[in-house]
Amino acid sequence: GILDDFCPRLVLLGEERTCMPEYFLNYAERIKNFEVKNDDVWVASYPKTGTTWTQEMVWMIANNVDFKAGEEPLHTRFPFMELSSLFDQKKLFHAMNADLSEQEADSYELAKNMKSPRFIKTHLPFFLLPDQIKNGSKTPKIIYVSRNPKDACVSYYHHGRLLEGWRIDLESFAKVYMADKVAYGSIWKHIFGYWEKRNSLNILFIKYEEMKANLPAVIKRAAKFLEKQLTEEQIKLLTQHLSFESMKNNKAVNIEDFVDKLKKSNFPMEDGAFIRSGIVGKYKEELSPETIKRFDGWIRKNVAGTSFEQEYN
Ligand code: A3P
Repeated sequence: GILDDFCPRLVLLGEERTCMPEYFLNYAERIKNFEVKNDDVWVASYPKTGTTWTQEMVWMIANNVDFKAGEEPLHTRFPFMELSSLFDQKKLFHAMNADLSEQEADSYELAKNMKSPRFIKTHLPFFLLPDQIKNGSKTPKIIYVSRNPKDACVSYYHHGRLLEGWRIDLESFAKVYMADKVAYGSIWKHIFGYWEKRNSLNILFIKYEEMKANLPAVIKRAAKFLEKQLTEEQIKLLTQHLSFESMKNNKAVNIEDFVDKLKKSNFPMEDGAFIRSGIVGKYKEELSPETIKRFDGWIRKNVAGTSFEQEYN
């Protein structure tokens, strides 16, 4: 069926046996040896934690809040390094009648060949990043965004039902999620992998919840980190540009065209949008009380003895 054609099996990688799509095996070595540049800007995150939002913020800050230039689609301004390893992209584009050249279809090449300064998105756990980042021989700026796993899980579920043809129900998915049996593995190992390196490497660590609570403050922190001066007026305009409503209606970031094409190709998908709800604590309306309880126990277990103890209750 259509899903068997596009959705890969998961393989286990590294000491921590992190789940990754099997096609990633075709990329692992190339990414390990990827030539990093000191003026690269990377946004790293676990899926569904506010990556797109962070990318748009970072790109705008780095490009002097140039709304005109920002009309170019985010996925070419800020390519997603390992996107092509998540499914059989060629087959999928073929089925969608998308006329993408080979070059454009290979996300790795897109990131590699980008004109500097390059902007690169990745969901890879720290241990799968290029060697040059891990050993500190290159020092690109990395912005890592994290989010309450309960909200990220619900968001991941809707993402899968919208874009990956999943049929699973939310309660079952939450179990799979807490067993770390999803692409990119455990959200906790992912967060801690970057958190532990934040002082030794060039990593700015931000949280989705902070962006919701005080976006201008996060913009200022990110601008300082990126060594950019923004005027109060620019911060005000950027805050508006990054609002949920504005992002939802922004064709350069909402992948509406892609979703429409997927719909037209009769891909099995739930109704919905990529920029979906954007609310902190929305999980309370979607997860059962029992699952929330299990989640809380799972979170307590994972954060015990770390600085995340007071987070994400
Ligand atoms: P929800 O599914 O909870 O709405 P990612 O970009 O990592 O895939 O993260 C997607 C999540 O970020 C989605 O969460 C999406 O709605 C939310 N998001 C995107 N833009 C946002 C914005 N401007 N403000 C708040 N949330 C946003």
